[in-house]
This record gives sequence, structure tokens and C-alpha cells, in this order.
Amino acid sequence: MDRTTLIAGNWKMHKTPDETEEFIREFSGTYEAAPEVEVLIIPPFTSLERAGKLIPGTGIGLGAQDLYFEEEGAYTGEVAPRMLLACGCSYALVGHSERRALFHEDDPTVNRKLLAALSAGLSPILCVGETLDEHRAGKVAEKITRQLSADLAGVGREDLKRVVIAYEPIWAIGTGETATPEEAQDTIRLIRAWIEEHYDAHAAEGIRILYGGSVKPGNAAALLSQPDIDGALVGGASLQPESFAQIARAALDR
Ligand code: PGA
Repeated sequence: MDRTTLIAGNWKMHKTPDETEEFIREFSGTYEAAPEVEVLIIPPFTSLERAGKLIPGTGIGLGAQDLYFEEEGAYTGEVAPRMLLACGCSYALVGHSERRALFHEDDPTVNRKLLAALSAGLSPILCVGETLDEHRAGKVAEKITRQLSADLAGVGREDLKRVVIAYEPIWAIGTGETATPEEAQDTIRLIRAWIEEHYDAHAAEGIRILYGGSVKPGNAAALLSQPDIDGALVGGASLQPESFAQIARAALDR
């Protein structure tokens, strides 16, 4: 298995450009980059340009939290893929549950964003996951497979190589509750099986699938020790350089 572990920090609506700069300096002072673990920060749009200038040589990669699917034009408030590339981004989240729930993004929109990211040369990190009600009702597989078919529509085998999937049970995001490592493993295994069924075994073996939802220094090692979990999408615990570094170190020890 040669899937490089990916530890991505989704900062959500936190940190100004100056605070971003401070984070990068502190983090790169405390964490020693290693090729086995790819570390990514995902700051707000307003910090991307500053981050993009500071990260070369630090081993830290850069991603955006969202993007728009048009190339340019009269779309007030939106940000185009090529603007993200120009700031130094190589990744973009698409379909984060907060975008879906608070900003009414539906699957067709997520799909268009994902396709736009791919055609611009960005690697999309597609977020999928079930609500607490769906979880309790035993509808995890149904929800996830529905999201995968809609959100990955029109993505060919070659482009799929650049897609990362993040499984984030919505009830575990920002709540301090995590799926158990076994539960997370089972759902991620199911996602990999879906990829095998809809693409092929090679695609399933190669695609990176992350877990997200209250990942912390204390639970990262157990989650990352699961065979199908290829990394973590970290929210709250990615805001402090030391806790994010501890999670990245846990990935190094996998
Ligand atoms: P959390 O957020 O780690 O704060 O639960 C994860 C996410 O939303 O990506």
C-alpha cells in the first residue's frame, strides 16, 4: 500500500493573515516534515496568498475551503479555481458538511465544484458523511453511496487519482465525539468498496480516504492505525501548532 498519509487542517472561519503567518512559523519550528506524511493547511481565502508565500520549503501544503465552478464573471462573493492556484493552493475542499447544511449546497453543486477543481488542476477533497439521525437509523451506507454517486458523477479513472475523499460523520464534527476507530474503518472500507465497484480494484487501492470529526492528539493514533484510514481532516485541533503537530507525528508513527 503506497498511499501517502495526508493530515489536513481545516481552519474554517479562523485566523487573519497575521495569525496565519504566526501559525506557519510556529508549526514549522516544532514539526519536522517527512515525506511519508503530507501536511496541509486549509485557511480562509483571505489568508491564502500570505500562506502561499510562506510555505515553500516548510513541507506544508495549501488548500482552500471551497471554490466556485465558473472560471470568472459576475458571481459576487465567489472565488474561482484559478485564483486559488495563483495563491499556491494545490487542494480544495468540496462539499464540507457546513457548506451543505449552512449554505444549502446540494449534490449537483458539489459535483460541479469537484469537476471544476479537477479541470483547473487542483485536487479536490470531497467530504461525505451522515447526520446523527441517519446514523441512528442505520442509513450510513445508503447516505454515503448516494453522495458518492452524485458527487463523483462524470469523474473518469484518470482524474479520480487526484481526488481525496474525507469521511466525516456530521455528528462527530466539532462535538468532541468521534466514531470509534472500528466504525470509521468500516465506513471507509465501504467507500473503498464502492470505488472498486464503480471504477476498479486499482483505483480503490490507490485512492486516499481520510477520517474527520473531532480528531485530536489523543485519538489520532488509534484512528490512523486502521488499515483503510489514510489520514485525517482536522478542524478544531488544527488551530494550535502544537496539537496539529502532535497529530502529524502520530501519523508518522503509523
Ligand atoms: P473538527 O472538524 O475536527 O473540529 O470536528 C472537522 C471538520 O469539520 O473538518
